[in-house]
Amino acid sequence: MAAHMKTTIVCLTALVLAPAAAPAATASLIPQPVSVEMRPGAFRLQAGTAIVAPPGVAEARQVAGYLASVLAAPTGWQLKVSESTYPLLRRNAIVLGLSGQSPAPVQPEGYELVVTQRGVRIQSPTPAGLFYGVQTLLQLLPPEIESQTRREAAWTVPCVHIVDYPRFAWRGMMLDVSRHFFTKEFVKQYIDRMARYKMNVFHWHLTDDNGWRIEIKGLPQLTQVGAWRVPRLAKWGTREAPREGEAATDGGFYTQDDIREVVAYARQRFVTVVPEIEMPGHSLAALAAYPELSCTGGPFQVNPGSNFYEKVDNAFCPGNEKTFEFIDKVFSEVAPLFPSEYVHIGGDECFKGFWKACAKCQRRMADEHLSNVEELQSYLVRRAEKILESKGKKLIGWDEILEGGLAPNAAVMSWRGMEGGIAAAKMNHQVVMTPTNFVYLDYYQGDPSLEPSTFGRLLLSTCYRFEPTPEGVDPKFILGGQGNLWTESVPTPRHAEYMTWPRGFALAEVFWSPKASRNWDDFASRVEMQFQRLDAAQVNYARTMYDVTLTGVRDVAGKPAVRMSTELTGCDIYYTFDGTNPDSFTAKYSGEPVAIPGDASVVKAIAWRGGRASGRVVTLAARDLTARLERQ
Ligand code: ACM
Ligand code: ZN
Repeated sequence: MAAHMKTTIVCLTALVLAPAAAPAATASLIPQPVSVEMRPGAFRLQAGTAIVAPPGVAEARQVAGYLASVLAAPTGWQLKVSESTYPLLRRNAIVLGLSGQSPAPVQPEGYELVVTQRGVRIQSPTPAGLFYGVQTLLQLLPPEIESQTRREAAWTVPCVHIVDYPRFAWRGMMLDVSRHFFTKEFVKQYIDRMARYKMNVFHWHLTDDNGWRIEIKGLPQLTQVGAWRVPRLAKWGTREAPREGEAATDGGFYTQDDIREVVAYARQRFVTVVPEIEMPGHSLAALAAYPELSCTGGPFQVNPGSNFYEKVDNAFCPGNEKTFEFIDKVFSEVAPLFPSEYVHIGGDECFKGFWKACAKCQRRMADEHLSNVEELQSYLVRRAEKILESKGKKLIGWDEILEGGLAPNAAVMSWRGMEGGIAAAKMNHQVVMTPTNFVYLDYYQGDPSLEPSTFGRLLLSTCYRFEPTPEGVDPKFILGGQGNLWTESVPTPRHAEYMTWPRGFALAEVFWSPKASRNWDDFASRVEMQFQRLDAAQVNYARTMYDVTLTGVRDVAGKPAVRMSTELTGCDIYYTFDGTNPDSFTAKYSGEPVAIPGDASVVKAIAWRGGRASGRVVTLAARDLTARLERQ
């Protein structure tokens, strides 16, 4: 990596010194803008460069201040921010202009960025567009611009003309802070990083079986009891249940001041924070605090990651009026904290078995003429929608809210594939697409033998193939998409970053860039350039795209064989069956599956690229490979 950085600096220095006729540099931007026209030459940022905001627009002035503060740490310069109207370029200045002051017509979140040797101009109809133009400008500076500490670099920006705007309005990331608690400082960093890639919705999964994370002043037990569980390290789902009298020391929650702080921070980055308060299922932490809201009465304990589903009641009782009083109280405090138009009510994976045996639930079903428990869930969701609407909010929920009948104005977040989203869109409801097989960032991104234990499989290249708008659906109902980081197997901030990047890059591009501009090879090379930025920012990321993927197959004779592949093109794969570490002197993979020798106990493979090992040695016991084969 260090060698790469040196090359970049040298190239950019050469560019500054080069005569005007020098060839234009290339830009390595994520997400790829709608139109990029590189021009020869470069603009050199200096201590005396001015940042100019349009007069009298607080949000635009704040974007200018944001730019000055990002530039300050690595350059050591406090660039002066002033307000003025400059329809054209001003010498040695970065001018932000709101349209009306320029002839360039762009879309609401769109912008036009012009860099010349004299100066930089960003033009947009909105402050949000100016912010996105600023993000592009930052990505045109050398990677060291991401550093939190003073760095030496040639602070130059290649001359360019960019016109850009997003494909989707909802460009989301979800972080689950229930399964593992993440501090508000980390949440802010996470939001900052997603905003760098022009994502604009932060879906905050605040409650679940394993922790209630938001202070509700009128229901203090929710955080006094519900935010804490016993500490466990074993694999999620296999953990020992709380022991008698064991102290619940693992957890945490956000005070309402914390929430306001995060929301304000996000707002400065044009990120809308959508809170999720789960109901009726996934509610064990709430029931540990208020067991009377369950069908069975408890007592309950906040779950530490042990297997309890269908054995312990984790749903609110929709037969009990107290449940609706609770929902009203919670939303009365949640709604004013979040400027978001939507509040997410969860609705997924509710085990309804305890409802079937509950007298109150049965009474409710009879009174309301509900013919099954799905309709009983729908009854609860419809009432939740009315409560939310009374507080000026719209309801969004996971696709299970379709079962038993969709609430009249609800938006649907489709996670069990795209089908729920398609059905909702056909009923003229708004949809956000988050199918497991394209956006679940908790899944393995590399060979499971090399990665920390988790569920499912989602490669970077698969994320990049995601298409949020299905055939035959009116695109106007597809708000956009979202990456979901569930944290059952994500216990630390560093690992949350690792699981998010670079797959978040792929999703950022899917949500922002024109569909026609998608190009995997080009994207992969831009990802490599972005890695230098993450290094400078000290953000963790996965290098799994450099590894080999081993797949068990059967050869023509029906014998177990192994297929080897890499996500990156232009790699050679070398392998062994004798336990030694492969390199460019061992057997080279031809592209056809290789039969596994009968007495081989292990397969090892590595990818080479540009004359060097590109990633890690993947080591798999032959029997594990054949076991994988059997499961396929
Ligand atoms: C979900 O993954 N249960 C929405
Ligand atoms: Zn009940």
